[in-house]
Amino acid sequence: MNIPIKTNKEIKKMRIAGTLAAEVLEMIQPYVIQDVSTSELDRLCHNYIMNTQQAVAACLGYRGFPKSVCISVNDVVCHGIPSENQILKNGDIVNIDVTVLKDDYHGDTSTMFIVGNTSTQAYKLCDITQKSLYYAIQLVKPGLRLHTLGYHIQKFVEKHGFSVVREYCGHGIGKNFHEDPQVLHYKSYDNGIILQPGMIFTIEPMVNVGNCQVRIMKDGWTVKTHDHSLSAQYEHTILVTQNGYEILTLRQNEMIPTLVG
Ligand code: MF3
Ligand code: CO
Ligand code: CO
Repeated sequence: MNIPIKTNKEIKKMRIAGTLAAEVLEMIQPYVIQDVSTSELDRLCHNYIMNTQQAVAACLGYRGFPKSVCISVNDVVCHGIPSENQILKNGDIVNIDVTVLKDDYHGDTSTMFIVGNTSTQAYKLCDITQKSLYYAIQLVKPGLRLHTLGYHIQKFVEKHGFSVVREYCGHGIGKNFHEDPQVLHYKSYDNGIILQPGMIFTIEPMVNVGNCQVRIMKDGWTVKTHDHSLSAQYEHTILVTQNGYEILTLRQNEMIPTLVG
């Protein structure tokens, strides 16, 4: 498989796109509160990306997706479509997934927001899912076999009693929203891909409280857990550097804990 290696010029543009995507999540945070509709959040993101950032919301129209960001609440695993009818309530756990296109390059990131107070289990789900992402990120360096990432994500998640969704994966990203390689979040056969400086891809584990099965709703997009259990997801765009990694979508106030085993 031919994995694109980005030039320094491309990496500079990817840094900018990644930072813009992260800034959308920073901007939207104070608005993710009780009684707001998910389509209002979508509007705020859309206007910020188009007007303030002078960039493009890459989800809008992507394979026919009707909105500018994906908003996935509670048992929605991913690809939730923002709606006037969906009003956030206390205890909801909300993923907002933003992909920004700027100067021909993409930045892709998502995080969870908790509305008010939620259950102990929901907090734990979000915490473990985020830690599984941070853990995998910290493994990234030249020479690592790509499939190692998924192996460790799955092991970590299952150790804490949760399950990893199999149907969706991380992906190479650059001029294309989705390009090679696929970054699986579970144990798989080694496909021979070895990380090299200049590779850029997302890691974006989806983790369920119940079993890993999912189903797609009639709208053709919304993915829910089959057993209606809660699901969480975090995503970053990662550059492989000479001796490790750089998180291109890091937020200002985001602290990465050092995680071992
Ligand atoms: N942002 C998602 C990802 O992480 C993809 C969303 S595709 C859309 O890869 F069409 F639903 F927007
Ligand atoms: Co992605
Ligand atoms: Co995304």
